Amino acid sequence: MTIQPAAMTAAQTDQTTSRYDRTTITLHWMTAGLVIMLFLLAEGWGFVPREIRKAGQSLHISLGILLAVVLVARLAWRGSAGRRLPPANSGLLHLAAKAAHHVLYLLMAAQVTLGFLFRWAQGEPFAFFGLFDVPAAFAPDHDLAQTIGGLHDTVAWTIIILAGLHAAAALIHHYALRDGVLRRMLPG
Ligand code: HEM
Ligand code: HEM
Repeated sequence: MTIQPAAMTAAQTDQTTSRYDRTTITLHWMTAGLVIMLFLLAEGWGFVPREIRKAGQSLHISLGILLAVVLVARLAWRGSAGRRLPPANSGLLHLAAKAAHHVLYLLMAAQVTLGFLFRWAQGEPFAFFGLFDVPAAFAPDHDLAQTIGGLHDTVAWTIIILAGLHAAAALIHHYALRDGVLRRMLPG
């Protein structure tokens, strides 16, 4: 079946202007905000006095636990009731965008796992905003903490670089291609 150019344009416009559902949009921006805050906190605490640094680390851990919850909710929602939209790109660009989204999910899951292992290996307080403590899963291990810390730092930078490229792609869609892809992820 051949599609008339005019009909294709109408279909494409329709695809790119429809929105994700409210839950998907909320969870996307919570994820983005938490990842950026976690990164800035960790990069910033080397420049402040010890007491403030400790507070920053406690906040990092509480926000990290929150990210774990948001990520599980995001993946559960995506796999069940979350609205699916047609691809925003075609051909190789579509594959690249899809791969970037999957790698971002994978890296975030890895980072949350490393974060938990890191805290358990450090053997230091592991609380959620002072409301409850996460019980220890194994005995503290200084060498293991060093190794996990290095991995956690590398994954952090990888996430930030990939998310930066992802955000740049969204802005190119919005300002250069003017095709409504960014609006799909913005509250209507
Ligand atoms: C740390 C920051 C971010 C992370 C981890 C992140 C992650 C993701 C992921 C995993 C998806 C795929 C959604 C799915 O299909 O399940 C997505 C979609 C999207 N993101 Fe982000 N994002 C971040 C920041 C941003 C920023 C800053 C922008 C805008 C400037 C943005 C715009 C979008 C748009 C428009 C989509 C939908 C793309 C489409 O419809 O194909 N994201 N994001
Ligand atoms: C995408 C999310 C995250 C990013 C970008 C991130 C980033 C970072 C970075 C850059 C560091 C400094 C590493 C170093 O200098 O060796 C750090 C430290 C740390 N992170 Fe994360 N992190 C994230 C999620 C988490 C999560 C979910 C947890 C666990 C709840 C966690 C727990 C820790 C711990 C325990 C430290 C060491 C704090 C200390 O030195 O006492 N992080 N994080």
